[in-house]
Amino acid sequence: MEEKSQKYIPALRYDWLTALYDPILRLTLRESEFKNYMVKAAQVQPGQHILDLGCGTASLTLLIKQAQPDAEVIGIDGDEKVLMLARQKASQSGMVIALDQGMVYDLPYPDNSFDHVFSSLLFHHLSRENKLRALREVFRVLRPDGQLHVADWGKAANPLMRALFLLVQVLDGFSTTADNVNGLLPSFFSQVGFADVVLVRQYMTVFGTLCLYHAQKPVQG
Ligand SMILES: C[S@@+](CC[C@H](N)C(=O)[O-])C[C@H]1O[C@@H](n2cnc3c(N)ncnc32)[C@H](O)[C@@H]1O
Repeated sequence: MEEKSQKYIPALRYDWLTALYDPILRLTLRESEFKNYMVKAAQVQPGQHILDLGCGTASLTLLIKQAQPDAEVIGIDGDEKVLMLARQKASQSGMVIALDQGMVYDLPYPDNSFDHVFSSLLFHHLSRENKLRALREVFRVLRPDGQLHVADWGKAANPLMRALFLLVQVLDGFSTTADNVNGLLPSFFSQVGFADVVLVRQYMTVFGTLCLYHAQKPVQG
């Protein structure tokens, strides 16, 4: 499947699998553990503006809003079908979040408009060129001193994790996932201008090593 022609890769690559995304993630990826950790570590304050990049079904977007109801929380995703599931979840939760359709490498937001940008399991869906384009856009929309929090596949912690990751590569494609498993995401963050790039945590999962990264837009951006 050509990323250029489709513009985005759906959550589980094929549209017909999107409805199964939440249960599969819950069962296989320690989802609640790593997403709750990200939200707690970010310490979002009242009145802050938050973006969830490639929000999918909005699980993380809603956790952020739940942790800080007085923040303005926006999720963006390219896939209108996954956003329909996200809207249903938001409406059932009674929480008010904004859900926008758009491409992560062409964000429809002004410069310096967010305090935190979160992203979970998005970057391995993007080609290297689009990873860098998306990161430049994140850098642009974050205010100086703003924080980037990323969860995605990273360098395999051991040979078993590397072998298990082949399943993700078969599903999501080898070209978009290679930079992840080669451990290159942190260098891409630095390349577009982020400072204090840190690998915060690693989780062993049935699909490989999931990494949490943190980076900061310098005050003199
Ligand atoms: C694996 S899902 C992760 C969803 C959610 N962040 C989570 O952690 O459950 C990846 C999401 O990224 C979206 N996506 C992929 N490429 C995109 C792009 N270029 N622009 C916007 N969204 C994109 C897909 O539609 C999908 O919903």
